[in-house]
Amino acid sequence: MNQNIKKIITIDGPAGAGKSTLARELARRLTWIYLDTGALYRALALTALQRGLDPHDQTAAEKLAASLDLTARPTPDGTSIMVDGRDVTSLLRAPEISLAASAISAWPGVREALLGLQRSLGAKGDVVAEGRDMGTVVFPEAGLKFFLYADPKFRAERRFRELSACRRDITSEEVLADILERDQADCRREASPLKAAPDALTIDSTNLTIDGVLKVMVNAFRNRFFGFK
Ligand code: DC
Repeated sequence: MNQNIKKIITIDGPAGAGKSTLARELARRLTWIYLDTGALYRALALTALQRGLDPHDQTAAEKLAASLDLTARPTPDGTSIMVDGRDVTSLLRAPEISLAASAISAWPGVREALLGLQRSLGAKGDVVAEGRDMGTVVFPEAGLKFFLYADPKFRAERRFRELSACRRDITSEEVLADILERDQADCRREASPLKAAPDALTIDSTNLTIDGVLKVMVNAFRNRFFGFK
């Protein structure tokens, strides 16, 4: 393995493109750590809602982010989050938390407050980090960067299938509207907007299976870190 290449792989992309499944599986295959940075923004959003704060209120959001006792522990399945010593991991996936996380993550002070924690979690290397700005801002020195894209309708269908297994009250139109709203918010914000790093390999997963994308990723890894063609 080429020791001069930073052993961090970043996977950025819009909601529902399959980032979590792929980052988790890639980390498992490489026996690296899987880091889900969306969980940090979700924990912040959850706490804001629990405390009756508006995630769209910049002052309140930035004050909360700067003062919150947030700790994260990577596990093979995801990133466990504790707020004030309480494990909140199981509460983070609800749709209302997704929208609140998208809103709260737009504030520069919020992103700044979470930067050190994210970097410390990746400091030892051997990490597959998933999010929106992993390759552009948090780990610009990463050895390998992916930007995972998929058509919004396809992403919404996949999310709908996942959600409808546990929720009967949600429609596919609502899921698509949520996805489009989050895409807009994530791409248009001024602070670290969602975009591919110039040196990222973009993969359109619309017509690929998870295994198909994984194959592309593993090949890119072998090529980059071991010089295999
Ligand atoms: O990946 P996710 O759906 O769990 O992320 C939830 C929200 O957090 C997403 O709408 C945007 C934000 N986010 C971010 O701005 N930067 C990251 N690195 C990860 C997530």
